[in-house]
Amino acid sequence: MKVSVVGSGYVGLVTGMGFVKLGNEVIFVDVDERKVKMINNAEPPIYEKGLEELMKEFRGKYRATKDYHEAVLNSDVTFIAVGTPSREDGSIDLKYVESAAKAIGEALKEKDSYHVIVVKSTVLPGTTEEVVKPLIEDHSGKKAFRDFGLAMNPEFLREGVALRDFLNPDRVVIGVQDERTKQVLEKLYKPIKAPKLITDIKTAEMIKYASNAFLATKISFANEIGNICKKLGIDSWKVFEGVGLDHRISPHFFRTGIGWGGSCFPKDVKALIKKAEEIGEEPLILKAVLEVNERQPLRLIELLKKHVPELEGKTVGVLGLAFKPGTDDVRETRAYPIIKKLLEEGARVIAYDPRAMENFRRFYPDVGEKITYANSSSEVLDATDVILIVTEWKEFEELDYSGKIVVDGRRVKAAEKTAKIYEGVCW
Ligand code: UDX
Repeated sequence: MKVSVVGSGYVGLVTGMGFVKLGNEVIFVDVDERKVKMINNAEPPIYEKGLEELMKEFRGKYRATKDYHEAVLNSDVTFIAVGTPSREDGSIDLKYVESAAKAIGEALKEKDSYHVIVVKSTVLPGTTEEVVKPLIEDHSGKKAFRDFGLAMNPEFLREGVALRDFLNPDRVVIGVQDERTKQVLEKLYKPIKAPKLITDIKTAEMIKYASNAFLATKISFANEIGNICKKLGIDSWKVFEGVGLDHRISPHFFRTGIGWGGSCFPKDVKALIKKAEEIGEEPLILKAVLEVNERQPLRLIELLKKHVPELEGKTVGVLGLAFKPGTDDVRETRAYPIIKKLLEEGARVIAYDPRAMENFRRFYPDVGEKITYANSSSEVLDATDVILIVTEWKEFEELDYSGKIVVDGRRVKAAEKTAKIYEGVCW
């Protein structure tokens, strides 16, 4: 099939290249000239494992353009995979989805055949039908489900393993209204061996929010129990190993520590809370899930103060800045509140991350410009005896922490074994 994908961020690129791998031809549309050029040179504009190899291997099967007309007129299906960032108040900003819908609508004017538009971006229930549909109709002068198809197909891609998640998902959720659109999407996803759940459009939108909110809840719940375990001298990792063996619960996403970050969980939980309040609901659990997560990183500093009561003038080493290992993404990383607090307490910070140092400096200039960046993890260890572990990069397992005070937010076994003083946040 011929597919176009609007937005070549991490979801758009991975989805598009996934469809290429499944035998389709793909046109990426992006407003960013730099990204368009890079994609056309088979260079991924973001880092994601396996993407570069795939782009090199399938050169010629995809291309990128800034021109919506070119993309829409030369494809049967268009995926909208633009960002839906959080506003200051937690509500979701739809400006990119809206401009994509308008531009697709304009391009559709010139198209005679039935074209399917699929919302892949994470949007709140109702958005596809109440925002995207009227914009496409107004700008194209055409009628949804008669002249063009519309669907919502959420992504469940984890950064770092996104291509694997695309090709081997636990499920594919397809929210549709008309039979023709359903058939197009079923055909496109046919090679994927996973249960396909067909729902109406707003149910598909909600499945995405409920999934992410549940995973975030699972971690915050584990962290709350973990904090209790810590006070009682119990290892919460052992506890959740035991809990997870119950097949009704499952062992995944039970790693206690300093909480969750990233581009999805914080944004989606906040947006769902906002939406619930707007319609007169009081989402008690979701609010608590967020609050536990906001407090959790600061526990690392409290534990540090047990061993180093006065942080003024002390040099503290921070290992890890990315929100999780395997990525250069620092969005909502736990490193930010931790380093901010350290600086407020008058500490000097020397940090190292194998991939995310540049992004951290750029994304959080208020603290990112006030710290020192090391060239390697051993340079951090050479510079100070006080170490905080924020991201569980594999290479931190290879270090010798002898003589160090280590407060660990992620459970790096080497530190646990070799440090002079070792404190785990929930164990
Ligand atoms: C998440 C969802 O997993 C994915 O389905 C969705 O589409 C996008 O959001 P991602 O943000 O890439 O993916 O990261 P994920 O691996 O889910 O981790 C999120 C955060 O939770 C990280 O900060 C991680 O450190 C933390 N985490 C995860 C824990 O603290 N404990 C766990 O047991 C698992």
